[in-house]
Amino acid sequence: MDIKKLLESMTLQQKIFQLLALNACIFAGKGEVDITGPVSELTIDLNLVYEAGGVLNTIGAERMKTIQDTFLEKNSAKIPLLFMQDVIHGHKTIYPINLGLAASFDRDLERECAAMAAKEASVDGISLTYAPMVDLARDARWGRVMETSGEDPYLSCEMAKATVEGFQGDMGKYNIATCVKHFAAYGGAEAGRDYNTVDMSERTLREFYLPAYKAAIDAGAKMLMTSFNSLNGIPASGNKKLLKDILRDEWGFEGVVISDYNSIIEMITHGTVENRKEAALLSMDAGLDVEMASTSYAEFFEELIKEGKITEEQVDRAVERVLKLKEDLGLFENPYRSASEEESSKIILCDKHREIARRAARESAVLLKNDNILPFSDNVKSVAVIGPHANTGSIHGFWYCGGRASDTVTVFDGIKKVVGDRAKYAKGCEVDITSTDTSMIAEAVELARNSEVVILTLGEHQFDSGEGNSKTNIEIPEVQYKLLDEILKVNKNVAVLLFTGRPLAIERLSKTAPAILNMWMPGTEAGNAVADLVFGKCSPSGKLTMCFPYNVGQCPIYYNHYNTGRPRPEAEGRFGYISSYIDAPNKPLYPFGYGLSYSTFEYSDFKLSSNVIRRGESVTCSVKVKNTGNYKAKESVQFYIRDCVASVIRPVKELKGFEKIELEVGEEKTVEFTITEDTLAFFGADLKRRAENGKFLIFIGRDSTCKHFAELELK
Ligand code: GLC
Repeated sequence: MDIKKLLESMTLQQKIFQLLALNACIFAGKGEVDITGPVSELTIDLNLVYEAGGVLNTIGAERMKTIQDTFLEKNSAKIPLLFMQDVIHGHKTIYPINLGLAASFDRDLERECAAMAAKEASVDGISLTYAPMVDLARDARWGRVMETSGEDPYLSCEMAKATVEGFQGDMGKYNIATCVKHFAAYGGAEAGRDYNTVDMSERTLREFYLPAYKAAIDAGAKMLMTSFNSLNGIPASGNKKLLKDILRDEWGFEGVVISDYNSIIEMITHGTVENRKEAALLSMDAGLDVEMASTSYAEFFEELIKEGKITEEQVDRAVERVLKLKEDLGLFENPYRSASEEESSKIILCDKHREIARRAARESAVLLKNDNILPFSDNVKSVAVIGPHANTGSIHGFWYCGGRASDTVTVFDGIKKVVGDRAKYAKGCEVDITSTDTSMIAEAVELARNSEVVILTLGEHQFDSGEGNSKTNIEIPEVQYKLLDEILKVNKNVAVLLFTGRPLAIERLSKTAPAILNMWMPGTEAGNAVADLVFGKCSPSGKLTMCFPYNVGQCPIYYNHYNTGRPRPEAEGRFGYISSYIDAPNKPLYPFGYGLSYSTFEYSDFKLSSNVIRRGESVTCSVKVKNTGNYKAKESVQFYIRDCVASVIRPVKELKGFEKIELEVGEEKTVEFTITEDTLAFFGADLKRRAENGKFLIFIGRDSTCKHFAELELK
């Protein structure tokens, strides 16, 4: 398709409507417009909905083809629709929430999961996913931490890159385009309250919050979505510094910029524009190409051009990016792209995909505590499977996309597959945070009393995290603790499985539960992954991607904090004029990078190839890791630095590398990391990125509490 020629042939209205992405639910199905749906809130002529450029939230090859047929019949420019969807952690075969998948510390697995999701989505008619979500997350009160890769910028960058590569591959038939979101710093919402104000220094923005968006763009993301929040006083959807100065001029992004759902007209509510017309002007002027859901562009662009407030040239540039994306996706050649009912039926939820989801759920699980309880023997005489998550398929997470609870292998299913009718189930209590119903506890306790071991699921409902689901209380509900306490009175062989979309304040659980295995929201193959882990077919290997706090009062809490002038000593007690709390420690209950194994590992022979690094050169650091336990197991070896003195304060530790290795019992491997000038670089007060001469501490270890083993001087 000759995009330039097509553009020249289009009327102004046709061009303007290419910049509109509508919620597909307004298309009732066989081409009719469902005027009862969101379209009733549309303020455009209903006949014009067929001029739109894109739709979101439709799943299914047949439905996509029906809508596309109607569009191509009615659309005056005969331009195919772009079908977009939130394929965040799986399409119909759902793998763990991103906060969990990143805990695998496995780039290849992240890539493999995204590629699997892309294959399912592509044959179901989707051309683009609103993923990866790469917002940095430091505050567990924020419900959307579940879709992030956590608190560390380096880990977030690595997972962003792997996800884009997985979804987009070589942009072949089974690949889909990606849209990195939410630009920018959506995770910095004050008090962890979704959509709340974000205000931070540009240095913090650039050092911690921006890198992962750039990593996704450098990996080839085709689209970027603006965030709902204001950033330093300007809503992101009208923020020229973000969308033009940084995104286009500094980073050279040439893809499409789309708003979030109604985020353009929400600038009226933010209070930076009077009305929809001004909102449209501010966003287009800032460089936002496509409006999602609301229709201010469609309503006012012709007027704004007549008034000389925006130019047709600006519109042309935006439309050109949309048409180029459709060209890259091959939509002009084949408007159905890869949609195929036949292939969908074969590919979606196939054994191979279930195996990937099962492996991802295993590798994401984080063993937080284990007082010689796990793994259970599969010869165990009787297993009580108890808890509100134990016999339900609703453990996919907030962005379950096309996933169905009925397709899930529940925890109870998974355990029964191993031990048959030696497994018995009792719910024990509800998961609802308001529930005080203790009526089911007695039955569960009776079952626990008469069982050799107990698997007890505790935690959150899958919809208590995710968008709009922020919390001020991140404890486990009282009724769940009552269930645990009563069970422990009759049976000590209890393994708690934690189901959660966020770090929880589980100090009390950490003191009472003999074993805690955090499964996050594990997805379609939950039960099989639980059985693999609980019965020792493989050892847990996940490592936390966000700190778990002692209590919510510590939030936001993260490992890569600054030292302050009065750091708290490690020791217990009160310290008067020190940066600390009198009622809780500064450190988290469980730190970033933490996770136990069924085996044990010995780190030895720490080496640094030189204690001096000159500009333009590199040095390497290495360590030997030996499996000194009784299980074949995986270990994510982590490499951190600390810049001891610099022109601005520097974090007490920064992750700069990780490698996941598998070791047979007794096996030893050497893991090596390369250090370059760039490894040591940061943004100074002048906002220029550079490494400064001086001393650095070098750390390699199991988690972010590891001690340094060497000093390195940059000269
Ligand atoms: C939502 C989310 C965004 C999602 C979009 C489309 O409000 O903020 O992540 O991609 O709308 O569903």
